[in-house]
Amino acid sequence: MTELAELLDSRIRDVPDYPKPGVLFKDIAPLLADAEAFGALVRALADRATELGATKVVGLEARGFVLAAPAAFAAGLGFVPIRKKGKLPGEVHAESYDLEYGSATLEVQCDAFAPGEKVLVIDDVLATGGTVAASLELVRRAGGVPVGVLVLMELGFLPGRERLTPHLDGVPLEAL
Ligand code: PRP
Repeated sequence: MTELAELLDSRIRDVPDYPKPGVLFKDIAPLLADAEAFGALVRALADRATELGATKVVGLEARGFVLAAPAAFAAGLGFVPIRKKGKLPGEVHAESYDLEYGSATLEVQCDAFAPGEKVLVIDDVLATGGTVAASLELVRRAGGVPVGVLVLMELGFLPGRERLTPHLDGVPLEAL
C-alpha cells in the first residue's frame, strides 16, 4: 500500500450490520473529519484530474459530492452533480440501473457539458458498479467524454470492475 492509501485506510471505520444485518458499512466520516487525511485525498484527486486532462469534474450524489467538489476547486475546474431522480430542474437525461432489490435512477442536466468536454467522474465507493456505469452513460448522453473514474475505495470482493468494463470502454478506473 502507498503512504496515501495507508493514511486513508486508517481513517475509514468499519461498521458491522449497518444499514442491515450482515453488511459491513465503510464509514468515511472519520476521514472527512481529519484535516490531514481529507486534504491529502482532495489533493490526490485534484492532481489526477489535472494529469488526466479533465476539464470538468462530476460528483455522484451524495458522498461523491463531498469529494468531487473540493477536488474540482483544487484543480481549478468546474463541478457538475449527477443526482438521484427528481432533484435537478430543467431538461435532464435519466439512466436507471438495477439494485439488489428494485432499481434506481440517476439524472444529469442536458446542458451540463460543452460538446466534447473531458469529464472526470468521482465517487466514494465502487461496489456493484451500477452507479458509475449509469453515470458514464449520462456523461456521454450529455455530450461529455469520460477521461477517468476515481473512487476512494473499491470493494474488491464484488464484481463491480468487471460489470463496468463494457461501460468504461478504455477509460481508466482508479481506486485510491
Ligand atoms: C453508495 C456509494 C456509491 C454507490 C456504490 O451510494 O456512495 O455512490 O452506493 O454502489 P454501486 O457500485 O453498487 O452502485 P448510496 O446510493 O448509498 O448513496 P449516498 O452517497 O447518497 O449515501
